[in-house]
Amino acid sequence: MNSYFTSTLFRKTLAALSGLFLTLFLIGHLVGNLQLIMLSGSAAQEQFNEYAFFMTTNPLVKILSLLTYTSIILHTILTIFLAIQSKNARPVDYAVSSGSENSSWASRNMPLLGVLVMVFIAIHMKSFWYEMHWGQVGNDPWGNQDLYTVTVTAFREVWYTAFYVFSMIILGFHLNHGVASAFQTLGLKTQKYLSPIEKFAGAFSILVPVAFASIPIILYLQSL
Ligand code: HEM
Repeated sequence: MNSYFTSTLFRKTLAALSGLFLTLFLIGHLVGNLQLIMLSGSAAQEQFNEYAFFMTTNPLVKILSLLTYTSIILHTILTIFLAIQSKNARPVDYAVSSGSENSSWASRNMPLLGVLVMVFIAIHMKSFWYEMHWGQVGNDPWGNQDLYTVTVTAFREVWYTAFYVFSMIILGFHLNHGVASAFQTLGLKTQKYLSPIEKFAGAFSILVPVAFASIPIILYLQSL
């Protein structure tokens, strides 16, 4: 029992579960953020800021937020550890490097993709989450913190918008391999479910990043 908790299988299972929890977070976060472009002007400002107030004060959401931060930290530490471990287990590279014939580009570059997603999350949280919790965000006419103005102002900048679009492409590749691989680790990618899981991972890794990327693009175009 004790050795299970220090085993590679346990670490892989935790990495898969934290990763799948983060994909659920992404769906919720996407739905919330789509409010930025569903309405416009002061209606969008009022609704988004009310939503942000609810998300930062509701006790249940606070627990989900804590689970999200924990999952990000756990997933990062575990996957870095597992990548180093598998590199050390094979100090000499495969004689025939596993090219596109037997593995996808994303699967061979998961550590790089993961680091780039981390860089995105760090910059993203500094811009919005840190500003909302510890910055000097003014109030809107309805008395809520004006996170809407902070967000739309950020995407008036073409480079900041381009950085988001680039990061969503990276996120798409990371999800493409990550989601399918998490199901495999959990033992669910059996012959019967192989095709539906691969189809789901493929669709998820395109639709979610494209929907996310549409937000900065639309906000940038609206600001012109
Ligand atoms: C591209 C469109 C996106 C927009 C407009 C956006 C906007 C925001 C805003 C306004 C906040 C602050 C709200 C708060 O602290 O409750 C926030 C928090 C956050 N965002 Fe995003 N976001 C986007 C994409 C993403 C993506 C793709 C990820 C992950 C890969 C992500 C991860 C996070 C995390 C972890 C937080 C902190 C959540 C919490 O405190 O519970 N965001 N985002």
